[in-house]
Amino acid sequence: MLTQSIVASPTYEFAADVRAGLTRPQQKELLSKYLYDDVGSALFEVISFLPEYGLTRADERLLRRHAPDVVEFLPAPVAVAELGSGSGKKTRWILEALCRRQRTSYYPIEISHTALAMCARELGDIDSISILGFEREYLDGLLEVAAQRRHGQHLLVLFLGSTIGNFDRPAGVNFLREVRHILVPGDAMLLGTDLMKSNSQLIAAYDDQLGVTAAFNLNLLARINRELDADFDLSHFKHVARINHEARSVEMHLLSTVQQTVTIPGAELLVEFLEGETIWTESSHKYSADEAFQLARESGFVCRAQWIDEEWPFAESLLIAE
Ligand code: AVJ
Repeated sequence: MLTQSIVASPTYEFAADVRAGLTRPQQKELLSKYLYDDVGSALFEVISFLPEYGLTRADERLLRRHAPDVVEFLPAPVAVAELGSGSGKKTRWILEALCRRQRTSYYPIEISHTALAMCARELGDIDSISILGFEREYLDGLLEVAAQRRHGQHLLVLFLGSTIGNFDRPAGVNFLREVRHILVPGDAMLLGTDLMKSNSQLIAAYDDQLGVTAAFNLNLLARINRELDADFDLSHFKHVARINHEARSVEMHLLSTVQQTVTIPGAELLVEFLEGETIWTESSHKYSADEAFQLARESGFVCRAQWIDEEWPFAESLLIAE
């Protein structure tokens, strides 16, 4: 095993993004990537065990069952880059199947330092693997991985867990196009998409009984308090999950239960909230199984194979760069 990591530069962007999002004239907004500091990443881990939230378990089930099938479709030799590795738990199956065939380099790309460290620890025991983590935004990290690839070596990009669902549909296609530009023909991408479900299932998944998702969402305000010295009173904000039928997504918001003013010195900002006003923090778009084929076509890939979980509708699609 070989484990190293490349570390990010300091992120003063956080203050700038908070400022931009909270001064928007209409819907206030905070970018969902900021949900994942150490506390947020740990809370998301807990979410993945909740009975109401079957997404992560479906993803993992599919990968465990079908990893050998996925590997059969891959070009050789191939290195693996993962966009948002999280804990790395579900990636094990693919890496083990691949490592039975060849020595494998694995490049997790992840903005959370802690998640990256956990993932290297989780997967470092696999035979014939070398791990090099990149503490980077997805496309920056992927560019670096691509730049160091050896002649004739293909890439498999893992984009699991329906992370693509955080983009709206046009932005999702755009993102896949940008990934495609970094790849060469024959490279592969394994794309996980959560499939459409009933309203009640969706609301339960994003507003669980125990309040873990509420804590996950509210942690974003706590993070702004910690890192930008703000004075958000968390008892005056409420987690809300809403279905956006037109966008086919579930939205998370933080609703201000009173009229209030919040100061955020680290962003040189004073924000006014009306009673009932919300901050939009995340969207999770839901797909049909066919949409993966369409997404692939629109972004320069072809969908070569697809595996679907019946218990919690979720699709794993194998895209090949054309
Ligand atoms: C990790 C982005 C796939 O959208 O379902 C879980 C994050 N948000 N509960 C999702 C999340 C609220 C999750 N993704």
